[in-house]
Amino acid sequence: MTRVLVTGASGFLAMHVVKQLVDSREYIVRGTVRSLTNEKKVKPLKELSSELELVEADLTKKESWIDAVKDCTYVIHVASPFPAATPRDEMEVIGPAVDGTKNVLEACAKTKGGVKRVVLTSSCAAVYGGRAGEDHLFNEEDWASEEESIPYEKSKLMAERAAWELVKNLPGNRYVTVSVCLWWDDMAKILDEEFRPLGYNVPTRVAPTFLLKITSWFDPTVKMIIPVLNKEVRLDNKKIKEDFGFQFRDEKTTILDMGYSLIDSGFIKATPKYQEMKTQQSTASN
Ligand SMILES: NC(=O)c1ccc[n+]([C@@H]2O[C@H](COP(=O)([O-])OP(=O)(O)OC[C@H]3O[C@@H](n4cnc5c(N)ncnc54)[C@H](OP(=O)(O)O)[C@@H]3O)[C@@H](O)[C@H]2O)c1
Repeated sequence: MTRVLVTGASGFLAMHVVKQLVDSREYIVRGTVRSLTNEKKVKPLKELSSELELVEADLTKKESWIDAVKDCTYVIHVASPFPAATPRDEMEVIGPAVDGTKNVLEACAKTKGGVKRVVLTSSCAAVYGGRAGEDHLFNEEDWASEEESIPYEKSKLMAERAAWELVKNLPGNRYVTVSVCLWWDDMAKILDEEFRPLGYNVPTRVAPTFLLKITSWFDPTVKMIIPVLNKEVRLDNKKIKEDFGFQFRDEKTTILDMGYSLIDSGFIKATPKYQEMKTQQSTASN
């Protein structure tokens, strides 16, 4: 069986990738984590499969990628800093993103036998970063504005650019993988409709812009959203649908799945009504 490496396997997206690969039973799956002794990160991965190979690698440590990539036919590079707040120094995010991408790709090029294909998880931030609000349907031809981007967007833009620069003589493709862009209050309304009858209070009122701007002075998580506040972004996902027949899950299902997952995994407390519904469901399925 061919071996696939998934970088940053403990992350939100990468763990889904690992799960799909493991469930397919078609590959030997190797995942990287920063530390094998970090039980919080490693345990959920081990629970996915006892056969999953886990190795340590850090984006900033070039040498760690040589062993990680060894004997792999495919590499899915997902690891990258994904900050929830504006960092004090943008290089905290940009440095590992760019150096990590180069380190992974260079290790792929050096590995004996050669890696056949690399999938790089960039971001639509590398497509529309610093350009939200433009009256434009963004697609794979578009690139973020380096000058106007926030640190995260810049990190994705620069990492992807670095990747293309390294593989400039090789064939490759860029795909937008966004199904639809929604406003936060649209998402809140979908959650509210489903979860209010189960005893949850999902706030659906839109916070006034001036209040968010004031809050952003002392809250770096709010500061991060100010550049895109009230600005619409439209993305065209035609290419991936045409090339792969890719079908996106509808947004309502995705948002509700997230809600249920947050409750079932204990991030949000289960209300008595929610527990009652679960009991009824399990009785019905027995
Ligand atoms: N989630 C989205 O909606 C979304 C959208 C567009 C693009 N993306 C891209 O998808 C990728 C994963 O996003 P995510 O949502 O899954 O984020 P995440 O849960 O924060 O996962 C990020 C992963 O990168 C790893 N990582 C960060 N810095 C590292 C370093 N210095 N060395 C090694 N590993 C490092 C993290 O390891 P630790 O667990 O040890 O911190 C984690 O496994 C990122 O490239 C992100 O830009 C995500």
